[in-house]
Parts: sequence; structure tokens; C-alpha cells
Amino acid sequence: MKQYTQPFRPFVIHWERLKADLPNRRVPQIRNLGRGARNEYLAPWVAVCHALHTRFAGSPIQFFVVCYSFFVGSPKLRKTEVRVTVCISAVQHLRRLRGGSQSHLLRASEGVSYVTKFQNNPQHIRVLANEMLASRLGLALGLPMPHVEVIEVSDWLIAHTPDLRIQLAGMEMPCQSGKQLASLFIGSESSGLTLDYLPRELLKGVRNLGDFARVLVLDKWTCNADGRQAIFSRKTPRSRRYDATFIDQGYCFNAGEWTFPDSPLRGAYANSCVYESVMGWEAFEPALSRAEEMDAVAIWQCAAGIPEEWYEGDRTGLERLLKTLYDRRGIIRKLISELRESTRNPFPNWRTSPTSVDLSAVTQDEAVEIR
Ligand SMILES: Nc1ncnc2c1ncn2[C@@H]1O[C@H](COP(=O)(O)OP(=O)(O)OP(=O)(O)O)[C@@H](O)[C@H]1O
Ligand SMILES: [Mg+2]
Repeated sequence: MKQYTQPFRPFVIHWERLKADLPNRRVPQIRNLGRGARNEYLAPWVAVCHALHTRFAGSPIQFFVVCYSFFVGSPKLRKTEVRVTVCISAVQHLRRLRGGSQSHLLRASEGVSYVTKFQNNPQHIRVLANEMLASRLGLALGLPMPHVEVIEVSDWLIAHTPDLRIQLAGMEMPCQSGKQLASLFIGSESSGLTLDYLPRELLKGVRNLGDFARVLVLDKWTCNADGRQAIFSRKTPRSRRYDATFIDQGYCFNAGEWTFPDSPLRGAYANSCVYESVMGWEAFEPALSRAEEMDAVAIWQCAAGIPEEWYEGDRTGLERLLKTLYDRRGIIRKLISELRESTRNPFPNWRTSPTSVDLSAVTQDEAVEIR
């Protein structure tokens, strides 16, 4: 099938890199007049600002730069102005991918490929918001997850790509244009070095097997209503061992519901052999402590930049979701314990800590004294 590519838009890319690098997003609200005229004008200025900000971190100069960014360099949005789209653009369709959300592999303007989930996917529009928020939380916990971005898919690309269609109940409809969810493609596009499943023997040899316990922290915290999903990649066909990367956070927060119906087995990986090395709470570190200690600002930062249309403009719902996440930090251990005590017995090698053994052995009177 003929492949169409969209005209290259270097300007947006340049912006994307700059914005990504800017610390704490303390930048002037950049607008553009028409198509990027003002971008061009402000881009070097922001670069200088960024350099100063980084070079003089913690000094009065940094304070000045931040103040200037907020109060002087922040032009008001005029009637004729539109916001700059701070996102990458899709330029080429590569192929369809398997799965319920009917994602597609697209090449972006910077030459990198992204697994793209569309707003009109058959699962739910909020799957996009979930994927972005939960992936960022996961990355903040130090978990191996693909970086997620907002990708702009143009009407032009959809109109010129017969494959960019969603199939639903025997009908076909074009994928929606506009802002879609892009997750960085792991591995090479064609060589088959990335797999969805590994047999038990190979699975036990996965280089970062310990991350399966750590990702449970995220799945319990966010009430992932799906089983944990991972892909396994190796660098060359000769490499024997695989690295796991955790994908598909779309059903965190109970998919489109944004509720937390906790249940012991939810969010666990299908094959319990990945948990064989779990002997105690230390197996979940540092992710567990990071989640428990994550402050409200850090949680909010993970939600920054999620397009409003991905959660149907329900800002109150988003606020409630983030507040609940903040509150749920304190019950992650309890949720993991419920899985541990379930009939599935996922952690057969768990050793009871010496302290709790001692405590269970003492009489009730002694226990009162200890308290
Ligand atoms: N970041 C990625 N890098 C490489 N491959 C990926 C990535 N994300 C997804 N895939 C591939 O795309 C497939 C579908 O992805 P994903 O599971 O996120 O979508 P889904 O529609 O929710 O699928 P399902 O309904 O089967 O869970 C995966 O099985 C995997 O093979
Ligand atoms: Mg999936």
C-alpha cells in the first residue's frame, strides 16, 4: 500500500524540544500569531532564559529570570492569537497494531516512531488521559515505561491513509484527527526483536525481572483494572536476555470510570513466576517509598498538559482523581498485602520479618507494654 507522508514541520519540533527541556515549566506563556511568526521571535529568547535558569540555579539571577518569565515575558492572549500547539506531528503511517484500542504505529516529524491511540478508539476516550497520567507516574517511580507525548495527527494524513481507520461493529470510520496519545515505540520496527509474551524459562531470565514487583505499586495505587502488560525487547538477534518495558496503562483508574474498585488480583501480571524473588517489602523499593512520599505538586505535574478533550473537559473529575491518588498513597501497602494473602499466593517466598515474628510470639500483656 502506498505510504503518504505529511510535509515536514521543523518549527513545531524545535519548540517541542525547547519546551521539554525547560525546567519546571516556568516559562512565559508562549503564543503565536497565525502560524508561528511569534514563535520564531521568542524561541531564541526562551533558549537564553533556559540557559540562564540552569546556569544560575539557586542564585538571585535565577530568581530574576523566573520573575521576568512570569511578569514581563508573558504576553496576554490577544483576540487574534492562538496558543502554540506544543506537540509533535505525525508524518507517516507505518502499520496497524493489535489490541482493543486499535492503535497505529506512526512516524513523527522528528523521525521517531510512536504507538498512537486515537480519541475515537473503541475502548474509551479517557484511555488516552489514563495512559499519559499513569505512564508519567510510573516514570516518576523509576519504572521502565515508554515516554508518552501528545501527537498531532492532521486531517491530511488521515484522508491520505486508507489504513487509518477504526473498525467497530462491522463498520469502519476514519481515525480522529487532532491530538492523540503517542507512546514511544520500544525496539526496532521490523526486526521482531520485541515480543508481547515470553515462555516461562525466558521470562525468568529477563534482565529487570525485579521491576514486576515494583510496577505492582503503580497498578495497585492507580487501581489498574487490567492485568499488567509488558513487552520484552532485546538489542540484537544474538542477545539472549530480554528487557521488560511496561505498556498499556489505559485501564488504570478503572478505564473510563475514574473510580477505584480495588480487588486483590487486579493489576497483577498473569505469570506469577515474575514474583518469585519477592521476599519482603524491600522488593517493592524504591518505587513504594517514592509513591508514598510523592507530594501533591509532583502528582499534579504528571497531569500537566493532558489535552482537555481526553477527559471530556471534566476538570472537576480530574481534580477529584488527583486528590484521590494523593489520598491513596497511604493504602498501597494494604492493597499489596491483600494480593499477597490471596489464594493465588503470588509471593510464595515472602519471609515474615523478625519483628513481626517476635510480636506474634509475645503474650497479650507483653504486647500492650511494647505498644
Ligand atoms: N511503546 C510500545 N513499544 C512497542 N510496542 C508497543 C508499545 N505499546 C504497545 N505496543 C504494541 O502494541 C500492542 C497494543 O498495545 P496496547 O496493549 O497498549 O493496546 P491495547 O489496544 O490496549 O491492547 P489490548 O487490548 O490487547 O490490551 C501491544 O501488544 C504491543 O505489541
Ligand atoms: Mg493492552
